[in-house]
Formats: sequence, structure tokens, C-alpha cells
Amino acid sequence: MSSLSEFDDADQEDSTTPKLEKEKTQDSAIKVTNLSLTYRTTFTKNQTLRSALRDIRHKERNVHTVEALKDVSFEIPHGTVLGVIGQNGAGKSSLLRTLTGIMPPTAGRIEVHGRISTLLALGVAFNTELSGTENILLAGLASGMTREEVAAKRKEIIDFAEIGDFIDLPTKTYSSGMSQRLAFSVAVHMNPDILLIDEALSAGDAKFKAKAQEKMHELMKSARTLVLVSHGLNSILNLCNDAIWLDKGQIRMHADPKSVVDAYSEFVKVGKSTPAMLEDL
Ligand SMILES: Nc1ncnc2c1ncn2[C@@H]1O[C@H](COP(=O)(O)OP(=O)(O)OP(=O)(O)O)[C@@H](O)[C@H]1O
Ligand SMILES: [Mg+2]
Repeated sequence: MSSLSEFDDADQEDSTTPKLEKEKTQDSAIKVTNLSLTYRTTFTKNQTLRSALRDIRHKERNVHTVEALKDVSFEIPHGTVLGVIGQNGAGKSSLLRTLTGIMPPTAGRIEVHGRISTLLALGVAFNTELSGTENILLAGLASGMTREEVAAKRKEIIDFAEIGDFIDLPTKTYSSGMSQRLAFSVAVHMNPDILLIDEALSAGDAKFKAKAQEKMHELMKSARTLVLVSHGLNSILNLCNDAIWLDKGQIRMHADPKSVVDAYSEFVKVGKSTPAMLEDL
């Protein structure tokens, strides 16, 4: 199954084009063309009561716009493990949000060839009022599984997450590490064609990180496509076979992981010996 979304009004095509486009990109898991995302947030500054009343009358609002992604284009074939790195605010999570469809792009085109229903960004999918078990069911149904299929996988998911009796409590009672363990376990056990991981392991403890890395290696062997956003440059070097460096919403470099990590390390003025940057996430 594939999904195709187009948001550029200026670039409407005739009815024959999408078919050609699909044939051309059959080997691609993800193709992103001229993608831009601008957030517009309206807000009111700290106000006195008098100015607040005046603003209501005059409808004065400040608008804050952030161009989180600017004209981003790339294509990755099935089986790619793509690492995405960049400084805080570079647009990495925004890119994943647009790929999952959570956030509609302002302009550009995204093609995802794979089981779109199983695309999952970690940590965004839980309903925090529901228990771990209930969230597993929801995630399973959302990814197109039947109740019976979810039931068959449930034990495996719970065992991998190792969060004990908490599985029956609402997920709002979980620590961030526990949430991420469960989210990771759910995501990898849904057999997705394409798995998007945003700093998934940053809150897990050392033992779980090792287990998660092992699981990711396993997924890679079965030629799944992975997109891994991480500040842990070692994870990028160890796991990925392709890498993108995002800088202020733009692709600064798209090349093999070593070249990208070297260039990025140079840019942020840290040598390879700086443990904080190379620490695995
Ligand atoms: N929901 C939102 N509304 C408005 N602005 C946002 C929103 N989410 C992100 N931004 C802005 O978009 C830009 C990109 O943010 P994003 O979260 O994609 O960065 P990131 O690369 O994931 O950073 P980090 O490494 O800190 O996770 C930032 O300037 C951020 O302030
Ligand atoms: Mg982020």
C-alpha cells in the first residue's frame, strides 16, 4: 500500500502524472520533494488587565512563524537505515511529523511506499488515560491488525517492554523511560515496513538501550526501512547506512553516515573524543 500527499497548490498535475510518478519511485520507501513546513502560532505577550481588554476589543494578536523545514528533498530506497542529525530546533522531529502525516506540510510532496498504517513515531501515539494493554490494542488496530492478531502479539510486546504490573495502569503514571520502552516495543512488534524513531532510546536505561539496539539490528536484517533521529552520533555510525544533516530546516548534507557525522562534528566544534556527543542514545 502506498500513500501520496501533495500540498503544493501551484503544482497541480494532470490525472496521468501520479501513475508515472508511482512507477518511477517504486523502489523508494520515502520520497520527499521540496517539502516546507511553517508553524504559525498566535500569542499574546504578558499583559496587564487593561491591555488584555483592549486586545480583545481590537483583536490584537502577535503571530510567531517558524520555518521548521525549508525546501527539503530526498529519496531513500527500501531497506535504508537513515540517520537524521542536527542541532536542537533543526527540524528533525518536524520532518518525522510530516512523514507520519501528523503535521500537514505547508508546501511540497511526500510519498511513502510501505504500510502507512504501521508508520509510527514513538511517544506520540499513546492515550495517557488508557492502560498500557489498552494502548497496545489501539496501536495494533490503528496499524490494521485484527483484535486476534494483537492478542497474539500482546505477550511478546509486554515481555520486551519489561514494565511489570504497570502495564495495567494508565500510561500517564509511567516514567518517561517506561513510556518509551513500551512505545518502542509496540512499534517494533507491529512489523512496520517503515519505522520512524525519534530519540526513542534517550530515556531508556543502559540495559534497555542495548536490547533495543539489538532489536533494531534484527529489523535491519529483514530489510525494513528505518529513519532514526538521534543526537547520539555513535548510534548513527553503528546503525545507519545513510545520513542527513538538517540545519535550520534545510538539508546541509546527505551522504554516508561517516562523512555526515564528521562534517557535523567539525561544525559543532567538537572532536570525536567528546564523549557527550558520541554517547549512544
Ligand atoms: N508545534 C509547534 N509549533 C510552533 N513551532 C514549533 C512546533 N514544533 C516545533 N516548532 C519549532 O520548529 C523548529 C523545529 O523544531 P523541531 O522540534 O522539529 O526540532 P528538532 O530538530 O527536533 O530539535 P530537538 O533536537 O530539540 O528535538 C523549532 O524552531 C521549534 O521551535
Ligand atoms: Mg526533536
